Amino acid sequence: MLRTTPLLMVLILALITGCASTSHEPPAPGLAITPAADDTLYRALGQREGIQSLIRSFLYVIADDPRIVDQFAEAPIDRLEEKLNEMVCVIAGGPCHYSGDSMRRVHRGKHISNADFNALVEDLIKAMDREGIPFTVQNTLLARLAVFHGDIVHR
Ligand code: HEM
Repeated sequence: MLRTTPLLMVLILALITGCASTSHEPPAPGLAITPAADDTLYRALGQREGIQSLIRSFLYVIADDPRIVDQFAEAPIDRLEEKLNEMVCVIAGGPCHYSGDSMRRVHRGKHISNADFNALVEDLIKAMDREGIPFTVQNTLLARLAVFHGDIVHR
């Protein structure tokens, strides 16, 4: 039950934002995100160190997930880890800069389905549980990630 609720929430948010997003713009470099209003989430995640630990756990959970692991077979894992760290830091309101590609550009042509997206969200929840991240903090991070659904899922 504890895992179902944030997942459901992120799926609903993803649906709303996914439907609202205009997916015909050319891909822009960088991450088109609204900066976080404050650093509450960043601090709740344990700042840089907590985020690093979370991303490391997340990558281990993905590596163990037969539903999606094959899609990461060719991925440069060190770069992915670095960019995920930057991204989570930025959307959490931390003092970071995202230097990776836009979500649309990086996931384009990868044929990522809703099921893949949902599997990845479940993996993140599992990693957050392992890291002892409180439920409300989990929900805040999931909601901020849900806005990328429309740029990641192939339609
Ligand atoms: C909220 C969901 C997601 C977020 C926030 C996210 C974020 C990212 C970021 C930050 C990168 C690195 C960008 C760069 O190198 O410049 C990346 C790369 C990648 N993502 Fe995602 N991603 C998400 C969902 C997914 C899903 C569902 C899949 C497939 C199951 C996926 C597969 C990949 C792969 C394979 C790469 C490596 C691309 C490459 O360099 O060849 N992502 N993602």
